[in-house]
Formats: sequence, C-alpha cells, structure tokens
Amino acid sequence: MRASKALLTFDVVTLMPEMFLAISDYGVTGRAFKENIVNLNLWNPREFSMDLHKTVDDRTYGGGPGMLMTADPLVKSIEAAKKRQDKLGLKNSKVIHMTPRGKLLSHNEIKRLLSCEGLVIITSRYEGIDERVNNWVDEEVSIGDYVLSGGELPAMTMMDCLIRQLPGVLNDDESATQDSFVNGLLDHSHFTRPEIFKKMKVPEVLLSGDHEKIRLWRLKESLKLTWIKRPDLLAKKLLTKEEARLLEEIQIEQEQGSI
Ligand code: ADE
Repeated sequence: MRASKALLTFDVVTLMPEMFLAISDYGVTGRAFKENIVNLNLWNPREFSMDLHKTVDDRTYGGGPGMLMTADPLVKSIEAAKKRQDKLGLKNSKVIHMTPRGKLLSHNEIKRLLSCEGLVIITSRYEGIDERVNNWVDEEVSIGDYVLSGGELPAMTMMDCLIRQLPGVLNDDESATQDSFVNGLLDHSHFTRPEIFKKMKVPEVLLSGDHEKIRLWRLKESLKLTWIKRPDLLAKKLLTKEEARLLEEIQIEQEQGSI
C-alpha cells in the first residue's frame, strides 16, 4: 500500500454507483485502486434530492419524449465532490461531463488530462442534464459518435485509459509505451507459442534473436497495419526517414500484389 497521496483522484457523480465495481475491483485498474495509485469516490444525486421520493428527473420544457436529470441534485453532488477535491489540494482539478456532444476522446486527449490530479466526472442518464448544469462543467467528453444508455461506461472507458498511463500501474511486460496510438501508429502483430499452429508459422525473424531486425520488422508491421486499416492516422503523422522508407516498400509490395 502506498503511503503518499494518489496520483489521480476520481469523484464520479452517478445514479448507478455499483457499476464502478467493474473498474475498481478487476484487473489492472483494480490493482491500481488497491495500491492507492488512484482513488475513487462516488456521489449519487439521489442522496441530494430534497423530495420524499428522491426524484432526480423530470419532463422537458417545450414537450417531447424522455426525461432530463434535474439541476439541483446534480449541482449539489458536483459541489460536494469539488469541495472534497479542493480540500485535498488537488492541482488542476476539472469537472467533466460524459456526453455524445463532447470532444472526442483520443490518446492525445488522455495525455492532456493526465496533467490533472483530480477529476469530477458527471455521468448522466435519461435524455441528459438540464442545460444550466453546464455552468459547473469545465469540459464535455465523448467516447465516440454513438449513443450509450448512460455515461457510466464512457466514464469508465476514460478512467481506464488514464489509469494505465500512470507510473507504477503497468509492469514492464504490460508497458503502455508500446500500445497502439502512442506513436501515432497501430500496434504491430504479436505471436506466442506454439511456433506452428494449424500449419501457420510464426514469422522467422521473430525467432532469430536479432533485435535490430525484429525492431525493423515490428515497425514495418505497424506501418503496414496502419496503412491498411487506418490510413487517416498516417495522414496526420510526421514520418521519420526510416518510416517513410518502410512505407514506400509497403506501397511497392502492395502494387506488386504481395500484401
Ligand atoms: N453518454 C451517452 N453516450 C455517450 C458517448 N458516446 N460518449 C460519452 N458519454 C455518453
């Protein structure tokens, strides 16, 4: 157990706190919470609702289908969460609302958010939140151009991406530095035992023990996969001389029909 304070503290506003066991109790992220590298507090707006039935939603003004989360319990939850983060003296603490209208999450956005020691994350249900709550929100984040039934899974997606980047979370074998997108490319292919599976052989070079040859093969594989599956990523990337040369080889091989 770490004695020092967590590197990143999450305060999540949610009507479904139990869902967060999926991130706090399992796998790599579960270990990070257990070792106090990250910290999680959950705030349920229902507990801040002032009426007898603990209502947190209402119909929209102007009519139309669906219900909205009302402002008062949400704002009270955000203020309580923010007050706690301020008391802890967390630097660059931000309030983020997970919503399909937010800025798209990407590796670069994750890197930017890593400058925060605290995040208050609002997850909404129903048709969303009363627009006036946005006066308490610093940023809106989306995980993609599709709509989920609530912000909990998007919040956990963002939290998982952040946690695995923190020092001490992944061991050498799991290192995040080799992940897809870190260098603007997709990760290369990987193989494990057996050497031959249903007559398919592991590429010879990976068995050669020649580190330089293996590095070059992996870089070329990364470039090839990115060229075939995500050419949009290559269009954004500044290639090194070595990468440009390998990409040219790939394009010639493609013209010759060998890939
Ligand atoms: N809530 C519902 N859909 C979402 C999305 N795509 N991103 C973030 N939050 C959401």
